[in-house]
Amino acid sequence: MKTASDRLRIVLAASESVPFSKTGGLADVVGALAKTLDQHGHEVVMILPDYHFLRQASVAHLPPIAESGLRFSISMNGRVMMGYVNWTILPGTNVRVLLVRQPEYFDRKHLYQEHGHGYVDNCERFCFFSRAVLEICRQMVLRPDVIHCNDWQTGLIPGLLGTQYAQRSGFEKTASVMTLHNMAYQGRFWHLDMPLTNMDWRYFNYHYMESWGDLNLLKTGIAFADQITTVSPTYAREICLPEGGFGLEALLKHRHEDLVGILNGIDDSVWNPETDHLIPARYSIKSLEHGKGICRSTLQRRLGLPERQDVPLFGMVSRMTDQKGLDLIMASADRLLLQDIQVVFLGTGDPTTENALRLLAQKYPQKVAVEIGFDDGLAHQIEAGADSFWMPSRFEPCGLNQMYSLRYGTVPIVRRVGGLADSVNNLDHPDSIDHATGFVFSDYTPDAFAETVERAITCWHNPQLWKQLVANGMARDWSWGRSAAEYENVYRKALQRMSGRFAEGRV
Ligand code: ADP
Ligand code: GLC
Repeated sequence: MKTASDRLRIVLAASESVPFSKTGGLADVVGALAKTLDQHGHEVVMILPDYHFLRQASVAHLPPIAESGLRFSISMNGRVMMGYVNWTILPGTNVRVLLVRQPEYFDRKHLYQEHGHGYVDNCERFCFFSRAVLEICRQMVLRPDVIHCNDWQTGLIPGLLGTQYAQRSGFEKTASVMTLHNMAYQGRFWHLDMPLTNMDWRYFNYHYMESWGDLNLLKTGIAFADQITTVSPTYAREICLPEGGFGLEALLKHRHEDLVGILNGIDDSVWNPETDHLIPARYSIKSLEHGKGICRSTLQRRLGLPERQDVPLFGMVSRMTDQKGLDLIMASADRLLLQDIQVVFLGTGDPTTENALRLLAQKYPQKVAVEIGFDDGLAHQIEAGADSFWMPSRFEPCGLNQMYSLRYGTVPIVRRVGGLADSVNNLDHPDSIDHATGFVFSDYTPDAFAETVERAITCWHNPQLWKQLVANGMARDWSWGRSAAEYENVYRKALQRMSGRFAEGRV
């Protein structure tokens, strides 16, 4: 049990979290971290946008959402926008979830974009959200020890907290932590959006909020936060270099003493083949062959592939963006599909990639199945039904699917970058079988990828070796306990740094 002084009041601010909203791994991480911090005895309040689809029948599994009666107004560049707070509970926890309701901003078909284009008012939407987080903390007298911000959508919060909110009642002891889930998305907008932030123009400079003439909300978060984290130790190093920093490497290098990489975990109550109700048969290492066999034929049937047990079945579930290495797959597809294999893809994103994959499925109807869309159930079924999972990412801050794959006995094939390098051990020579969990390659070339898949195919035909690889992966522990403890250390460091700065009068 935590003593009162060990117990932290943490506000977790994000643009998505399971089970409410999700476009990618950010949602899984925010939901699982909140749950684990709650289990560790901290007081956690999560603040998310109230997207209108939270009330649709398709998400009937959500806990009831109630009105709190709290309303506030924020002047967005002269236009007064009202906000309302609804609330609910993160299922199975004590975590209060406050939902920021603003129909004009959040009643959209998707979270951030449609047809591959971001909403034109994304800056306004998420400046409103970030400012709302602080207004809610003030009006509800939450007095958080830490506001933990995630990605550019909440990057303005450390800026406001370090300046105009620093002296306000209720924030005297509040530190900020900024977690970088992906440097490729920075929330860059033209400079004339600056008034939406409500920050003084004097911060629109190279050190704080400006980059290449634009307003940069992720940079704002990095510049002002008391502590910065990212989602794997390798990515923490990569982002301090030009290839990984996407233009912010100098600032990150400058702040490297306050930057730490903490590998994400996985939520075992959601991603666990022994208890997963989204898959047709549950299994453990002991019942692997039987369970996986059922999952595999159900998947083949669902996706219209021949129901065969005698071919290696590869799977991929992914946002279809430049990051994920789909160009390597397309460039090596004809070579790989000469072999007797099956491949299933689930994803959505870049329309050109979606079409290229559809064409691949038309060309190889007996071997390739493609499902375009977002389908949580199918994502679980692919993890369970495939033999091996593809993640040849160009860059990957952490990546969750390779960990889910390991958990589901689905051997990952990954590129040696970011969190993939930190979570998969390569089978590179016979002796490495004692600790190998997958196949890892380095060069970002179609040949390197194809050769690695071919290694995996050869290995799959050696059932004893494959079984050992699967067993090694399934034995790994990815629970959130260890990572959450690392976040707790970061929160305490942030509090120390903040109190030092407070004595000096903040920024
Ligand atoms: P990223 O956050 O970069 O998309 P991660 O591997 O960290 O990559 O997390 C992706 C998460 O999103 C996983 O939970 C994955 O199953 C899920 N996901 C991605 N695309 C889809 C999709 N089309 N349908 C269902 N789930 C998806
Ligand atoms: C991002 C990254 C992914 C990471 C996820 C959760 O979307 O692309 O690698 O796992 O955030 O941190």
